[in-house]
Amino acid sequence: MRMLVTGGAGFIGANFVHTTLEERPDVEITVLDAFTYAGNEASLTGLEPRVTVVKGDIADAELVDRLVADSDLVVHFAAESHNDNSLANPWPFVQTNVIGTYTLLEAVRRHEVRYHHISTDEVYGDLELDDPARFTENTPYNPSSPYSSTKAASDLLVRAWVRSFGVRATISNCSNNYGPYQHVEKFIPRQITNVLDGVRPKLYGQGLNVRDWIHVTDHNRAVWTIIEKGQLGETYLIGADGEVDNRTVVEMILQQLGQDADAFDLVTDRPGHDMRYAIDATRLRTELGWTPIYEDFRSGLSQTVAWYRDNEAWWRPQKQATEAKYAAAGQ
Ligand code: NAD
Ligand code: DAU
Repeated sequence: MRMLVTGGAGFIGANFVHTTLEERPDVEITVLDAFTYAGNEASLTGLEPRVTVVKGDIADAELVDRLVADSDLVVHFAAESHNDNSLANPWPFVQTNVIGTYTLLEAVRRHEVRYHHISTDEVYGDLELDDPARFTENTPYNPSSPYSSTKAASDLLVRAWVRSFGVRATISNCSNNYGPYQHVEKFIPRQITNVLDGVRPKLYGQGLNVRDWIHVTDHNRAVWTIIEKGQLGETYLIGADGEVDNRTVVEMILQQLGQDADAFDLVTDRPGHDMRYAIDATRLRTELGWTPIYEDFRSGLSQTVAWYRDNEAWWRPQKQATEAKYAAAGQ
């Protein structure tokens, strides 16, 4: 099978490429990635000849058409993915997440290629801390940020292309991922690498916001489950019952690195900061039979802490510029 993976040099896409190579000997992968600040060649070294890397933009219609024509399956991870960046400059989010997805959809439509669309639980907005509800496939869309609204727009394009043009597509909306190869701008890698650098972790606001953490390998195994067993035209939510508040995550990281659990700072909050996300993945579990491997967040986090401790050469080149950007925003 020849597969096109967009955004394969980013966090989840690179993990997807690695897992796929290990578990599926019949698959050959072309990665299409623009290598923005978030793409990292070091996440994909030594994978030839089964992986071909093409540097290019998902909004480049000619390039996308050629690559899609040569593929049996497209899995679309590429995106501008960071909420804080979307608040500072929304335009790249509209261009990549909306126009880029449109460009891919037109190509899979022309060449009748199966398409899986990677999206986020943030399209559903947020929940109160004491709300017993969790997101399901029927929750109305209500995105808060430029990032999540452009992801919501891209999901709606996929739904329209399924209904109007019969494109063979599935969509998954996943909760917060953690694991190796995640950029140091994101919460967990930022705090781990801060502590490794002797810098106190930074919690936005009071640190009470809750995220529903899932290991990236469990996300990617769920994506394969949906590709193989999902119903065309349908949406599946992916989550592993991993709700934890940010303060608790930082305390765990500090403890796992031998520091006092209260050695963190509270900093300026994110404008419009979503309070809580929570996924009800009943449909994925019962209809498709998926279950997560990493059911204990504390031990998955500890493996992730060890990965960043052992792979400084991977993250060090991005650290200084990332922290300079946060410092300018008082975070
Ligand atoms: P990331 O920022 O780590 O990686 C994104 C990749 O896309 C990078 O390699 C980047 O170079 C590439 N890219 C950006 N613009 C491009 C363009 N115009 N053309 C080609 N490539 C481009 O992101 P991630 O965290 O790996 O997220 C991957 C996908 O998963 C995104 O669609 C995101 O919305 C979704 N998602 C992420 C999470 C999470 O917790 N990180 C959770 C649910 C869903
Ligand atoms: O829910 C899925 C989403 O999860 C994905 O769609 C996004 O691509 C991904 O970036 C992530 O979005 P979040 O905004 O939840 O992730 P982030 O890592 O930026 O922040 C996680 C939480 O930690 C959030 O409540 C903000 C907070 N935070 C973040 C940083 C960077 C801090 O308290 N301090 C920080 O330094």
